[in-house]
Amino acid sequence: MEEVISFNRGVPATSSLHPDEVSDAAAAVLEEDGKNVLQYGDSRGYPPLRQEVADKYGGDSRAEVLVGNGSLQILDSLAHVYLSPGDAVLVEKPSYDRSIKIFDRVGVNVFGVEMEKDGVNLGKFADMVDRVDPKLFYTVPDFHNPTGITTSGKKRKRVAEMARDAGMTIIEDSPYRRLRYSGEDEPTYRSIAPDCVVQMSSVSKLISPGIRVGWIIAREELIDEVARFSEDTYITPSLLSQGVVSHLMRTGWVEENVKRLVDLYKPRLDATLSSLGELFSQADWVEARGGFFVGLWLPEGTDVEKFYGQAKNEGLTLSSPKGFYPDYDGERFVRLPFPALKPEEIEAGVSRLASIWENV
Ligand SMILES: Cc1ncc(COP(=O)(O)O)c(C=O)c1O
Repeated sequence: MEEVISFNRGVPATSSLHPDEVSDAAAAVLEEDGKNVLQYGDSRGYPPLRQEVADKYGGDSRAEVLVGNGSLQILDSLAHVYLSPGDAVLVEKPSYDRSIKIFDRVGVNVFGVEMEKDGVNLGKFADMVDRVDPKLFYTVPDFHNPTGITTSGKKRKRVAEMARDAGMTIIEDSPYRRLRYSGEDEPTYRSIAPDCVVQMSSVSKLISPGIRVGWIIAREELIDEVARFSEDTYITPSLLSQGVVSHLMRTGWVEENVKRLVDLYKPRLDATLSSLGELFSQADWVEARGGFFVGLWLPEGTDVEKFYGQAKNEGLTLSSPKGFYPDYDGERFVRLPFPALKPEEIEAGVSRLASIWENV
């Protein structure tokens, strides 16, 4: 059998990880503040890092920032304190599978709103708001996981207005925002409507996912509630990891690394898009301009079950589309994460994908 090509996990390239620099940063933190980072501390996270995040990512003060063990664990805590069984939550359709799982686990009703190439369909969003009275809208507005779509500024403004009128909270999950390979940034939801937005991000895609450092920026009362819940769950997050991240942010290393990541990943996105252009002219895909993913919709009439079964037999690992849809109905969707593959592997992978599709 040919070598397996993995299009199933959205992970950074191994070559983008820097153990030596992380080791130097850890040594510096232990020397400067070792007694604090080795002790229990504030469940909101390491104070210097909370300040760095507030300054860099738009919190008014560090009181609006909680840093935890990756952003997903904070989402889990937030879901526990903010939601009750039976509440309605809106997500994009498709959406990030693990977030859908977190919402399912707290017993809320999750409703998907169809995506267009510039964000959710506004008419469907408005209908859904009227129909189910949601408490929350969870969105990945920048280089969306799993489609690669970026929500336009115009749509963000309209969605924020509707959310405010309906008394809803928006969770803006933006771990890919800094990884833009072309074009201009759109305004964040938080800059448009700070009163009703919780912004969530992490260094998983900028430094390392294994270091487990992510954060939310939100109004202070919500931060305090999440902090109380977190304290009863894990007492204190990993302060040594947070000290390392704080050091890497403060010294400017993260900004330099973002530039390196853009240089590494841009040719990989270009290879994905040009291979799709060459081999999938009958299909529909997203012209992503950053992040980790390109979403592909196979042509109408494709037998999805057969396609995925055949891909597995032919050494192409793909994520099942089922997890991305709160109410999966056989959608012909394929997520293509590109950062961990070299351009030639991407070309070979898309070509294998095309020949499987032609034969099902
Ligand atoms: C949209 C989105 N949110 C959250 C996460 C998880 O991030 P973290 O590693 O900070 O928990 C991911 C990881 O793939 C993601 O794509």
